[in-house]
Amino acid sequence: MEKVNIDWSNLGFGYIQTKERYVSCYRDGAWDEGVLTGDANIVLNECAGVLQYAQTIFEGLKAYATDGGHIVAFRPDLNGERMEASARRLEMPAFPRERFVEAVTKTVAANRDYVPPYGSGATLYIRPFMFGSNSVIGVKPADEYQFRIFCTPVGPYFKGGAKPLTICVSDFDRAAPHGTGNIKAGLNYAMSLHAIVSAHKNGFDENMYLDPGTRTKVEETGGANFLFVTKDNKIVTPKSDSILPSITRRSLVHVAKEYLGMEVEEREVLFEEVKDFAECGLCGTAAVISPVGKVVDHGREICFPSGMTEMGPVTRKLYDTLTGIQMGEIEAPKGWIHIIE
Ligand code: PLP
Ligand code: COI
Repeated sequence: MEKVNIDWSNLGFGYIQTKERYVSCYRDGAWDEGVLTGDANIVLNECAGVLQYAQTIFEGLKAYATDGGHIVAFRPDLNGERMEASARRLEMPAFPRERFVEAVTKTVAANRDYVPPYGSGATLYIRPFMFGSNSVIGVKPADEYQFRIFCTPVGPYFKGGAKPLTICVSDFDRAAPHGTGNIKAGLNYAMSLHAIVSAHKNGFDENMYLDPGTRTKVEETGGANFLFVTKDNKIVTPKSDSILPSITRRSLVHVAKEYLGMEVEEREVLFEEVKDFAECGLCGTAAVISPVGKVVDHGREICFPSGMTEMGPVTRKLYDTLTGIQMGEIEAPKGWIHIIE
């Protein structure tokens, strides 16, 4: 087979149906052995747990073509581990992390013709997800589940690629204290839709959510964690029990410390401190690290010195080092790169 005919360099972040997807079903207390299928549609009973009570969780990771001619995935074991945690929180049976990595490997290998070529700027986004599939009318967990993985070739998450974003402080909360903000549940994204549509209508690229308890501390955006750079060149990243433990953020913290020799503080970040930072970035699988140029809080503008035309210098170094590791140009820490073929 040959690569499919796609204009790789002009891809946005959208869904393109690929040839194969993985599906495993949970019934009578056990996961079946799982298969690849060409059928992208799912037939469900009208009363399925996912449709009535939103019992669904997901993950997001990427596969890359490296300069050495391999196809690799970035730290899939951590996505498998996080998905186990998400499942426990929503009373779903965990899909074991070893099987998760094996299923990612099989799905990407079966869709190798959709992996964007090295140097194209695009990647293969992998979307594992799980949902309650049998009928549930009283509020309780389903007894049957499907675990699935599909993938889709993608370009940058934010239109404009590396152009600095303008974000606004949201009047909505993303997560409740002791709620589900630290897991990847579909419900966290459903409730963020009104906030993101409102932000877009008002001309902003994303929302900055504050802590739901006091609304004085920076949490995260709808789909990424924050990294700030201080004027004396330290990295500061919010620590909170109600944000998603981003694998990209954890990787960038390691890159900053071990590759760039920078000091990193993981701590509560007051919104009042934001005006004093030199750079700001949004980090996540889809966002990679996307620079923020301006934060608007009900008309009050906070403009970072890095400006609105380019990534700041530290954000640029973090971006280049992380993507260099992912594409095989820079030696990776042990265990970060999972070779698919
Ligand atoms: N925060 C939220 C709310 C997200 O949806 C994501 C995306 O997965 C992230 C942060 C970044 O996490 P990761 O780096 O593991 O993709
Ligand atoms: C990811 O980065 O993988 C996500 O799930 C974020 C989502 C908003 C696309």
